[in-house]
Amino acid sequence: VNGNTTNQEIGKPLGPNKADSYRMFDRIYKRYDLLNRLFSFGQDISWRKKVAKEIDNTEDQHLLDLASGTGDVAFTILKKRANVAYAQGFDMSFNMLNCAKQKALKQSLTNRIAFTQGDASSIPYKKDSFDATTMAFGIRNIVDPTKALKEIHRVLKTGGKTLILEFSLPNNKLTRKLHLFYLRKIIPYVGAVISKDKHAYRYLNETIETFPYGQDFCDLMATAGFKNISHTPLTLGVATLYRGTK
Ligand SMILES: C[S@@+](CC[C@H](N)C(=O)[O-])C[C@H]1O[C@@H](n2cnc3c(N)ncnc32)[C@H](O)[C@@H]1O
Repeated sequence: VNGNTTNQEIGKPLGPNKADSYRMFDRIYKRYDLLNRLFSFGQDISWRKKVAKEIDNTEDQHLLDLASGTGDVAFTILKKRANVAYAQGFDMSFNMLNCAKQKALKQSLTNRIAFTQGDASSIPYKKDSFDATTMAFGIRNIVDPTKALKEIHRVLKTGGKTLILEFSLPNNKLTRKLHLFYLRKIIPYVGAVISKDKHAYRYLNETIETFPYGQDFCDLMATAGFKNISHTPLTLGVATLYRGTK
């Protein structure tokens, strides 16, 4: 089952419809941050801090944060890394970006960040524009991840670094079984009640279970042209941090 397959006989989508995923985020934006904290038991905060730590030390860096959503990755980086002069947040969901803009105001970061609406598969910036790019829990939502990776590679300066955070599945059999139970049987029901959207947190487990991770995702990064690719599983492998350079 992949992102856009359709059951011809009954005309219903078999898998998650990734092309329209941003519409779902447009609906659930109010509870998005709360559910992130809840479902990851607060781990998402430390995952974002890990991304911030891996930004290079060179001064005056310009960062592009793709699938920026409510902006938490970019905000964490701007607060932790003074050498990042400016961040551009980029996402398809108008409501998620609106939320991010309000958070930037509250955190007095509007002089170092701006947000733009758009599709990561077709990035509206010139080649060699950014010193670093980040994308947290976004690439899994994109219909053609290789196309988006090639776009990320294009807009990065030579020597620039990309950091991608994405959900994955634990390799240990027992941990994996327990995590799948959590993804399939707990998250969709609790998510439906709190977000008031019965599809959103079903979509989450379907996309996690069908998206390549570990070496398979590193192979996609290599196809897109990245070098020095590496990955680190986080929290027993429920998420993975990928790195690559241009
Ligand atoms: C799970 S959220 C991640 C948000 C944020 N990076 C974080 O760490 O909380 C995924 C985001 O991807 C965005 N998105 C989905 N498809 C996209 C696309 N083709 N281009 C850019 N953003 C996209 C959604 O609108 C949503 O805000």
